[in-house]
Amino acid sequence: MSNYSPLEVTFIKGDGCWLTDSAGDKYLDALSGIGVVNLGHCHPTITKNLVDQSQKLLHTSNVYRIENQEILAKKICNLANMDKVFFSNSGAEANEVAIKIARLYARSKDIENPIILTAIQSFHGRTMATLSATGQNKIQAGFSPLMSEFIHVNYDDINAVNQYKNNQDIVAVMVEPIQGEAGVIIPKNDYLDKLHKTCKENGWLLILDGVQTCMGRTGKLFAHEHNEITPDILCLAKGLGNGVPIGACLAKGIASELLTPRTHGSTFGGNPLVTAAALGVLDVFQNTEVLNNVNKMSEYFKSEFESKLGKNKAVKELRIKGLMIGIGLDGNKIDCSQLVKNALKDKLLINVTGNSIRMLPPLIISKEEIDILISKLVTLIGS
Ligand SMILES: Cc1ncc(COP(=O)(O)O)c(C=O)c1O
Repeated sequence: MSNYSPLEVTFIKGDGCWLTDSAGDKYLDALSGIGVVNLGHCHPTITKNLVDQSQKLLHTSNVYRIENQEILAKKICNLANMDKVFFSNSGAEANEVAIKIARLYARSKDIENPIILTAIQSFHGRTMATLSATGQNKIQAGFSPLMSEFIHVNYDDINAVNQYKNNQDIVAVMVEPIQGEAGVIIPKNDYLDKLHKTCKENGWLLILDGVQTCMGRTGKLFAHEHNEITPDILCLAKGLGNGVPIGACLAKGIASELLTPRTHGSTFGGNPLVTAAALGVLDVFQNTEVLNNVNKMSEYFKSEFESKLGKNKAVKELRIKGLMIGIGLDGNKIDCSQLVKNALKDKLLINVTGNSIRMLPPLIISKEEIDILISKLVTLIGS
C-alpha cells in the first residue's frame, strides 16, 4: 500500500553504527531505525541469543508457559520497579494495553465516561486508540470518529493538567518523558515530578509512554529515572528488542491487578524468540558500560556541536538528553525539506520533523564516529 514513500536506498547489512547499501556504500546511521537498534546493528549478544533460540523453539503460544518470557518479566519489572508486565509486539500495542487498563480502572471507580489527559504534539501510535491519544492533527486526519476519551493539554505545563483537578471523569495522564516525534521536546526537569504528585493527589494513573525515550536513550535505562519517580504504567518497545518486534506494558500497584484472565491477549506477544532478544538487550545494559558511553558521548557531542555549529546562523538551538538529539533550525535560513535527502547523499541517516533535525544514534557510538557525525552535520547545515 502507499502509506510509506521510502527513500531510494536499500540496506543489506549492518554493523554497529554503520549500514551498507546494495551498492556496497556505507552510511552512518544516526537514527537507529528510529530509536530501535539502540545497541547498534547486529549486536553479537542479541545475534547469539536469536540464533540459539531459533535452533530450539520459535513459538508456542501464551496458552502455555514461556520460560524466556517469565525470566524477562522478572528482570524488567525488577529493573523498572514495577510489579507486572504484558508483552506486546509494538509500541502502539503497549499503549493500547495502558489505555485498556485505564478503562478498567474507571470501571473500578464507577466512572462511565473516563477521560485521559494527553499532550499536544504527543505521539502514541497509529492504532485507533493510540492515534486518538496522539496530540497531532496530521496523524488523526481522515480517521474520525476518534475515541473521545482524550483531552489534549499543553506539554510541560503542569497548570494545564492541574486545571482538571475537579473533573471527576479524569482517570489518567499519559505523556512521553521527552516528546520524540515532535522533534525532541525536553520538558523542565521537574515536570514529571509535578505530574506524579498531581496524579497521586487525584487518584489518577500516571502512564509514561517510554517507547522512544527508554532503553538507555537518555542516559538512564528508563527516562523517568532522571526524576526518581515510578509511574503507575510504563510502556516500552523500540529498543527493547534491538530490532526484533517486542513491546511491553509494565504496571504497578492497582494498575497491575486490573487485567484478569481473558481481558487481553496477543498471539505473538512475548514469544520465546523475541524475549530471547530482549534478554540479550538487558544483559548488555547490565554487563557493559553502554549507559556510561551514552552520557560521555552526549557531553562530547554537545561540546563539539557548540564549537563547530554553535555560531551557525541557521541553528536556533540544540536539544539533547543522552543521545536523544534535536537541532532546532531557522526555516528562513535553511530549506529543511531537503535535509534528509541531502544527508543521505552524504551517507548520513537522520530524520527531520518540521524545522528540527532529530537524531537517535546507536548508544555504542564512539568519539571518532561523533566526529564523523559532526563533520557531516557541518556539511549539511553549512559552517
Ligand atoms: C513515544 C512513542 N509511542 C508510541 C510509538 C508507536 O510505536 P510503534 O510504531 O512500535 O507502534 C512511537 C513510535 O515512534 C513513539 O515514539
